[in-house]
Amino acid sequence: MNDDLVSAEVDETELDAEASVRPRRLADFIAQHRVRDQLDLLLKGAMKRGSPPDHILLSGPPGLGKTTLANIVAAELGAGIRTTSGPVIERSGDLAAILTGLAEGDVLFIDEIHRIAKPAEELLYSAMEDFRVDVVVGKGPGATAIPLDVEPFTLVGATTRAGLLSGPMRDRFGFVAHLDFYSPDDLDSLLHRSARILGVPITPEGAREIAGRSRGTPRIANRLLRRVRDYAEVRGDGVVTHAAALAALKVYDVDALGLDRLDRAVLRALIDSFRGGPVGLSTLAVAVGEQSDTVEEVCEPFLVRAGLLARTPRGRVATEQGWLHLGRTPPSDGRAVQADLFARDDT
Ligand SMILES: Nc1ncnc2c1ncn2[C@@H]1O[C@H](COP(=O)(O)OP(=O)(O)OP(=O)(O)O)[C@@H](O)[C@H]1O
Ligand SMILES: [Mg+2]
Repeated sequence: MNDDLVSAEVDETELDAEASVRPRRLADFIAQHRVRDQLDLLLKGAMKRGSPPDHILLSGPPGLGKTTLANIVAAELGAGIRTTSGPVIERSGDLAAILTGLAEGDVLFIDEIHRIAKPAEELLYSAMEDFRVDVVVGKGPGATAIPLDVEPFTLVGATTRAGLLSGPMRDRFGFVAHLDFYSPDDLDSLLHRSARILGVPITPEGAREIAGRSRGTPRIANRLLRRVRDYAEVRGDGVVTHAAALAALKVYDVDALGLDRLDRAVLRALIDSFRGGPVGLSTLAVAVGEQSDTVEEVCEPFLVRAGLLARTPRGRVATEQGWLHLGRTPPSDGRAVQADLFARDDT
């Protein structure tokens, strides 16, 4: 069983469980009202005109619903969807094959679009703008470019790192949506919905407790629900109650704010090894034995959002709340910054 709550690797049964609660239509997508409203208009407008909508870019931390929304876009349009991801498109030929294989009106979903190889990215520009691609055949002086038509399609790109996207790429999206962390109230509704679908009895207090500890993230809320269900079925009466939630979250090492082991390791390293910082990202990542990317994309956005860590021009700094959360006394020389000065998620 996978007990690493932020790990991207989940086993197959977890994936099945995640798929079963994944909303299929916009109306079932919880919260994110602004994005939902904007998308609703965009899609209905396009359908009214009978042409594919503008290309859509979805950005935000892992587990907030980017893949879910991409599939919803296709479902709402009644269109087919082709899914691929930036890292797997190594050669522009691979992308050309995908593009020329699209049917009119299809949605092409490219996950982790910031990791697409440069030549493929350039090919994508002309496909997005003019619905044509130039495929180069042969090598050296004898190489010729063969122009090929692409059926009108809608690109949905997803990225956890909007900042890494090139300017020309970003400019070609007619609609850019940033997904933000969910409030405990939103996650509360989400948990009741998921519990209903999974057939898990849950009390309002149980849902509330899990919602408050899910790092503002639907994927984590759903995962914690399954862990608490395990606990309730094995050691309780099968009902996800407040007591079951408290006991199970203790077993799985999720603290009162929802920080898991890695989050706490980052904060602890920052405070214990670097006296609260400032310290560079890569140094911090080495200290916890993780990839910089994981620390930056998975841990930091929530630590920043929770006001425990700040990104400053000189490096990462533990805030006063960060020190207090670990039960330490913040330094009295004012080195520990106030969270509200910096608390914003600028990924
Ligand atoms: N607004 C929502 N309402 C209900 N469930 C949601 C919502 N957003 C996400 N989920 C649930 O959370 C899970 C994770 O969402 P999703 O896979 O779309 O995240 P993601 O943003 O694509 O993450 P990643 O960056 O890791 O690919 C989904 O399986 C879905 O069940
Ligand atoms: Mg995804």
